Amino acid sequence: MAEDAHTFLPAVPTLAGLREAAAGCTACPLHLTGTQTVFGQGPADAELMLVGEQPGDVEDRTGQPFVGPAGQLLDRAMAEAGIDRSRAYVTNAVKHFKWEPRGKRRIHGKPNAGEIRACRPWLEAEIALIAPRTIVCLGATAAKALLGPDFRVTQQRGGFTPSPWAARVLATIHPSAILRIREDELRQAEYRALVADLRVAAA
Ligand code: URA
Ligand code: SF4
Repeated sequence: MAEDAHTFLPAVPTLAGLREAAAGCTACPLHLTGTQTVFGQGPADAELMLVGEQPGDVEDRTGQPFVGPAGQLLDRAMAEAGIDRSRAYVTNAVKHFKWEPRGKRRIHGKPNAGEIRACRPWLEAEIALIAPRTIVCLGATAAKALLGPDFRVTQQRGGFTPSPWAARVLATIHPSAILRIREDELRQAEYRALVADLRVAAA
């Protein structure tokens, strides 16, 4: 099995070409669990890129990033922050859904360091092609993929972190993490913090 996805990259990358090539990627074992590659979505000239962790159950079925419950929360937060989602490029650090069966349900499994590393050439190619001014890492997986394994979203969220990927890179909480908070007040506070971080990104 290939070490990472770079062997699958097309010689001359375009967004359409990358998407097509990624559909055939077998660089890590997740192509066996996921139904299909869920590639990024959005215009090639987007100034803002949002990077999530990996597709969830609904994304795996539809082939589109952030369209399930977390995506709906993200849509709402983006709208409140004054961001037009159709003008942003939305993608994930890992392009296949990792899951474990629990009864009839498919429970989200966290991608490991090897899977994140294997998939990173797709994310790097998306960033190189789109050259966004601002990148928002949604949660620890995206932040670790782009800002290194020592990055801690809980301690370093919100502000811009110097990096070679874009002029402005910031990390914030993942929408799914907000959905998992049981306590109403805490959940709403984290949602407002996400909106505030997105406002900073959009400014
Ligand atoms: N969570 C993610 O990180 N990405 C998606 O596309 C959906 C849920
Ligand atoms: Fe390729 Fe990424 Fe899917 Fe692994 S998760 S098979 S590296 S597209």
